[in-house]
Amino acid sequence: MPSPSPPVLPISEHEDEIVAAVDTNPVVVVIGETGSGKSTQLSQILHRRGYTRRGAIAVTQPRRVAAVSVSRRVAQELGVPLGDEVGYAIRFEDRTSERTCIKYLTDGVLLRESLSNPDLKQYSVIILDEAHERSLNTDILLGLMKRLVKDRASDLKVLITSATLDGLKVSKFFSGCPVLNIPGTLFPVEKFYSTERPTNYIESSLRTAIDIHAKEPPGDVLIFMTGKDDIDKMVSKLEERIQNLEEGSCMDALVLPLHGSLPPELQVRVFAPAPPNCRRFIVATNVAETSLTVDGVVFVIDCGYVKQRQYNPSSGMYSLDVVQISRVQADQRAGRAGRTRPGKCYRLYPMSIYQKEFLEATVPEIQRSSLAGSVLYLKSLNLPDINILKFDFLDPPSRESLEDALRQLYLIDAIDENGQITDVGRIMAELPLEPSLSRTLIEANELGCLSQALTVAAILSAEITLRSTRSKDMEGKRKRQELPDGSGWGDHIQLLQIFESWDQTGYDPRWCSDHDLQVRGMKLSKDVRNQLCQIIQKIAKGPTDVHARKSRKSDPDYRKLRRALCVGYGNQLAERMLHHNGYHTVGYRTQLVQVHPSSVLEGDEYGKFPMYVVYHELISTTRPYMRNICAVDQAWVEPILKKLEKLDINRLSGGSALKDSEPLEDKQVNMPKKAVDVKQSEVDSKIQAARERYLARKGKK
Ligand code: CDP
Ligand code: MG
Repeated sequence: MPSPSPPVLPISEHEDEIVAAVDTNPVVVVIGETGSGKSTQLSQILHRRGYTRRGAIAVTQPRRVAAVSVSRRVAQELGVPLGDEVGYAIRFEDRTSERTCIKYLTDGVLLRESLSNPDLKQYSVIILDEAHERSLNTDILLGLMKRLVKDRASDLKVLITSATLDGLKVSKFFSGCPVLNIPGTLFPVEKFYSTERPTNYIESSLRTAIDIHAKEPPGDVLIFMTGKDDIDKMVSKLEERIQNLEEGSCMDALVLPLHGSLPPELQVRVFAPAPPNCRRFIVATNVAETSLTVDGVVFVIDCGYVKQRQYNPSSGMYSLDVVQISRVQADQRAGRAGRTRPGKCYRLYPMSIYQKEFLEATVPEIQRSSLAGSVLYLKSLNLPDINILKFDFLDPPSRESLEDALRQLYLIDAIDENGQITDVGRIMAELPLEPSLSRTLIEANELGCLSQALTVAAILSAEITLRSTRSKDMEGKRKRQELPDGSGWGDHIQLLQIFESWDQTGYDPRWCSDHDLQVRGMKLSKDVRNQLCQIIQKIAKGPTDVHARKSRKSDPDYRKLRRALCVGYGNQLAERMLHHNGYHTVGYRTQLVQVHPSSVLEGDEYGKFPMYVVYHELISTTRPYMRNICAVDQAWVEPILKKLEKLDINRLSGGSALKDSEPLEDKQVNMPKKAVDVKQSEVDSKIQAARERYLARKGKK
């Protein structure tokens, strides 16, 4: 393939200025409009200027799809095969080699690399790209970089890039480092507002799109939707309506989806220019806001919503909500229309909503995520003076969610009652899985069912849908019944049985389609399983047996696996309520929850559900549901209940920084969240009150 000549982008025009700043400063913030070349050009510039002689350049991306797509583009521009000088690493996939000197990687992968190599010596430059996304992992990396540049003052350069981030705030965080504002060439974008919120934003977007197609001059249309389902709906409806237009009344049209779970071969279509006399409609999630730049867009349709996953630490519940975007996001979306010439943005909401209801900026992920994985990570760094509750965050998470994380980690043995990381916790931190699943694997290894646990962990963490969409129709229903049923133990066992049956066929894709399962999803879980096997064999001490094989239908194998799951999900336990089939969660917070309708777990012949179950997640949709459920034995639950009695959050949070003589509750008052606003006298009196409460409690014991 001929390599395209590198485009002259705003970043390239300021090459000398950028290099001068990097040469003389350990940390530089680069702010530039989306599409100005931050992701594709900065690494190449520093490579050209010799920065890769002493080590590689790492460029982090919050989104996997961006890591893959940007590295592919850079390899193309440099005319090298992907995986040689230029490569990428995302969870469960590494396309780099010894020769790789420009490496695109997700922020999560860089965090994990720093565990085995805390100084990140292999890199001479670390670019935290897309910092405006404020992903949880990038926020943690920001804190780590602050330490690292002190330790490696002489040989590490850190760049932080953003399209919208408040540069001053970051600069302050890095003791006043320089901020380079790269002026972009953005053409004016005319904005049109709706008079009211549409009752159906898909329908409303559809009408606007057809209107543009009929009336406006050439130019591609970018339509923001909230997620894959909406996009699929929109794509098919739009295609249908375009078909129905009178022949010859409009130019040709091409409708393309763009979202994170699109197979790579479909993603690249978006970056290819439109055929002549053809208008492209790109129907995208917010990946097209700042992560991926689609050239040729002149019209933007913005429904004003985004899908956001939120975690509520007081209930342990996730919800996937469609929420209003922020003003920063709305402006980003509009800006996409003005990259090549003056454009138009159709906002499907009134201006008053934009002004009065939208938040100024998006809430950073760290303030709406479960922090168990991150806290475990920080604990495993073994930094001498690290106190989790005092870690230097750009925006600190709430105390509540930090405590929630500590409790969870304690209940699954990753930290001890004094908040110190355990040996188990250290192994867990190295596995690229959420804490519950890594704990399950370790326990499974002890119990002799690692192979089965690996299968389940792989399927649950591959972020795939196994059921094909056809399953809704009648034919699908009939076929679905042929799937294994979990033998009455629930969804984890069913997932295992499905994978094992497929394994028996020699991974025949036809078996998947016959059973109404997505071939791509199944293949991916097989790949992830292989990856996990390699990782666990590297880090687990002692023998590991990872071969996929058919579990015996008899109980013992499933029993072991269920037991391992019970340990791993120690904090995700529910007990059936006495007189009906609802459950309540067990632990330091109690919720009434239901078995999700998609679960294979069923009541026995009397309609009774198992007394105790563990669940993979709690989601709140129409009501609180447990999803992916496994029945467990009462005897395994008892040790967890015992631990719960001993749980003392003050001890957990202190960690190594806590001295025995120190009153524990001082730590509580010193929480970073809002303490800065509080006057010193108030702090003092709170400390005093806390101390008294502490002493009173101590006296009682
Ligand atoms: O990171 P930033 O938003 O500043 O820009 P970029 O991602 O480096 O993109 C710079 C240019 O490269 C844009 O014009 C993109 O359209 C182009 N590009 C591309 O054609 N294909 C990609 N996979 C990535 C970027
Ligand atoms: Mg970028």
